[in-house]
Amino acid sequence: MTVLKETIQVKRPATEAFAYLADFTTTTEWDATAREAAKLTPGPIATGTRFLVTCAMPVGSVDIEYEVAELDAPRKIVLRGRSRFFDIEDTITFTESGGTTRIDYQAQFDFKPLIRPFVGAMEPGLRRMGKASLKGLKQALDDRFPTPKLSGEDATADKLVLPKLARFTRLGYLRGRKRWNPVSADLRGKHVVITGSSTGLGFASAMELAHRGADLTLVMRNKARAEEVKRDILAETGNGNVALEIADLALLAEVDALVSRLLERGRPIDVLINNAGALYNEWQATSEGIERTVALLLISPYRLTLGLKPLLAAAGDARVINVVSGGMYSQKLSVDRLVAKEGEEFSGATVYARAKRALMVVTRHWARAWRQDGIVVNAMHPGWADTPGVKTSLPTFYAVTRFALRSPDEGADTIVWLAAATEAGKLSGQLLLDREPQTQYLLKGTEETAAERKKLLKFLDAYAPTAGATAASMPRAKAS
Ligand SMILES: NC(=O)c1ccc[n+]([C@@H]2O[C@H](COP(=O)([O-])OP(=O)(O)OC[C@H]3O[C@@H](n4cnc5c(N)ncnc54)[C@H](OP(=O)(O)O)[C@@H]3O)[C@@H](O)[C@H]2O)c1
Repeated sequence: MTVLKETIQVKRPATEAFAYLADFTTTTEWDATAREAAKLTPGPIATGTRFLVTCAMPVGSVDIEYEVAELDAPRKIVLRGRSRFFDIEDTITFTESGGTTRIDYQAQFDFKPLIRPFVGAMEPGLRRMGKASLKGLKQALDDRFPTPKLSGEDATADKLVLPKLARFTRLGYLRGRKRWNPVSADLRGKHVVITGSSTGLGFASAMELAHRGADLTLVMRNKARAEEVKRDILAETGNGNVALEIADLALLAEVDALVSRLLERGRPIDVLINNAGALYNEWQATSEGIERTVALLLISPYRLTLGLKPLLAAAGDARVINVVSGGMYSQKLSVDRLVAKEGEEFSGATVYARAKRALMVVTRHWARAWRQDGIVVNAMHPGWADTPGVKTSLPTFYAVTRFALRSPDEGADTIVWLAAATEAGKLSGQLLLDREPQTQYLLKGTEETAAERKKLLKFLDAYAPTAGATAASMPRAKAS
């Protein structure tokens, strides 16, 4: 039997340290030997929850299947693991005093007979490993990581279109992930509003943010699906703090009614995620007479965010996250071409990309204008992720790329990071992919002029909520 014991002190309440460690998939964030970790059993973490952790060995790797044997919040966690080389019991105890928590971590190895003759020689290495892991855990919980910048390597890739596009695939995610820092920020008590959470990236973000303890308001347009989502989130995470709002966000009247309801509820919004979106291959106007792409992807998040600004400002340090698309790289802002006219040649992908480009420009404008309100505003693009939206709107693209696509969780990762990570709160006006700021213009000649930016704001001003932010008011102007 080999027993490793380490102690660390962190300036965090025991409840936060406990919540972080109870989800043992976080082990990949702080234990340098842990390469992959997955939760094997559905439902909230409880006694009996199982995790699979793959750890690097001097040669190859070993899979350890852990089971939570004891979960006494926020005092003690006991995990029992089995692998082909050893059984292990991790006992983690948390003792809080004056805002600091002492974490005592004991790992007890029981090696298989075949390994026992080598244990003496392995012990110093094991002890070093134990110390390094606990140092990593302390760093994770101290949560003082630098704000990411565009890395030199990425800046080079940005000048070359093909390497940049390769980053949009799952390989880009796997590569990016190697550089990431832990995210241990506690989201309990934070109010996060997410649009379009019925499927795809919105659903994946909602599930992960619920798992991290946030109180959610989920905006969907189908009531039955919304209730199903709420049930799924409760069943998987145990988080019942999920409010539902039903709205067709392509309709300004419904955006306004949503804003009115949320203002009436009066709960400050810590994070607003403008995620709802669609790529339409056919021209169609909404019942309010606006081409539906620009209505849903630009005018709607513009009006919603402005309408909710009092609640964002009331949060003190709110974050707005606009989900754009790498497709926007193909387009230069052109206000005259934002609203596709009926009867003209129509390319859904182009109109979509133009609207996303415009939302990026608005993101930067708000970032500057709202700094003094304590609101940071960023955009992210998910790369290419396997979601129902991509499958139905881009069937050929989907057929060709499906094996290289990211999962919805991987595509949503940067949304969750922007919402949760402490260091993300210091960024504003950025476009992110895989938790890193990106260039906003990839192709020569796609940077808009200051005059065009001004023109966009003038165009959008016609869709701003009316003073006193909106009692189901109709738009002051219509595009057609
Ligand atoms: N997946 C990718 O590779 C990718 C790449 C670049 C950008 N994006 C962007 O990521 C965001 C999420 O896309 P996704 O891939 O997750 O697509 P998705 O699976 O189709 O999900 C889109 C979400 O938006 C909602 N939505 C669509 N129209 C709406 C409306 N009029 N009112 C309210 N909600 C509406 C959908 O609700 P319903 O279920 O009711 O339709 C759904 O919840 C979008 O903004 C998209 O442009 C995705």
